Amino acid sequence: MIIAIDGPAASGKGTLGKRLAAHYGYRHLDTGLIYRAVAKAMLDAAADLADEARAAEIARRLDVDTFGDPALKSQAVGEAASVVSAHPTVRAALLDFQRRFAADPPGAVLDGRDIGTVICPDADVKIFVVAKPEVRAQRRALEAQGRGEPADEAAILADILRRDERDKSRSAAPLKQAEDAVLLDNSYLDIEGGVRAAIEIVEAVR
Ligand code: C5P
Repeated sequence: MIIAIDGPAASGKGTLGKRLAAHYGYRHLDTGLIYRAVAKAMLDAAADLADEARAAEIARRLDVDTFGDPALKSQAVGEAASVVSAHPTVRAALLDFQRRFAADPPGAVLDGRDIGTVICPDADVKIFVVAKPEVRAQRRALEAQGRGEPADEAAILADILRRDERDKSRSAAPLKQAEDAVLLDNSYLDIEGGVRAAIEIVEAVR
């Protein structure tokens, strides 16, 4: 059983993915962390984010044990991730890892931008999560405050809109709803409401 969750930045797909995986006893992969890890390694090396060969090399040698690093969550790393993730050879280097993760029993939930369209086009369930930009910015600001980071909501909103635009307009695996994905509008749902809606979508096809 493979559940694919895609959607724009801060739409709540990560939380839904984690909760769905716990509910069904499946493994969960937040694929944004993979691109964030590549981006952070590029930033740490003071490499030019436009250097595709360097980014692809880092992607090929990626250590999955670094995915828990809280520094990956920062806005700066997210921004850099959306630049390095547009490089086709970076995406190609990370494809096998994601597909292998998805294929292992008993089931997996993967969330990202291209899970339903590119990584797992045959996923059993595809959910496309959206939420109004202002709501997403507000949630990200609260998360940042929780980590003790400064949270300028207007700046976060601008960052989210810029990142969405970059993710949608790139030629390699752009952010878009798969034809067979179910749309979940998370704008006015709290976490429990979102989880219930996602479980209903899964149950409808199980
Ligand atoms: O979801 P998150 O905000 O952690 O993702 C960071 C960036 O990584 C996104 O803006 C996007 O550019 C990239 N990404 C991607 N494909 C995925 C997951 C994330 O291109 N499957």
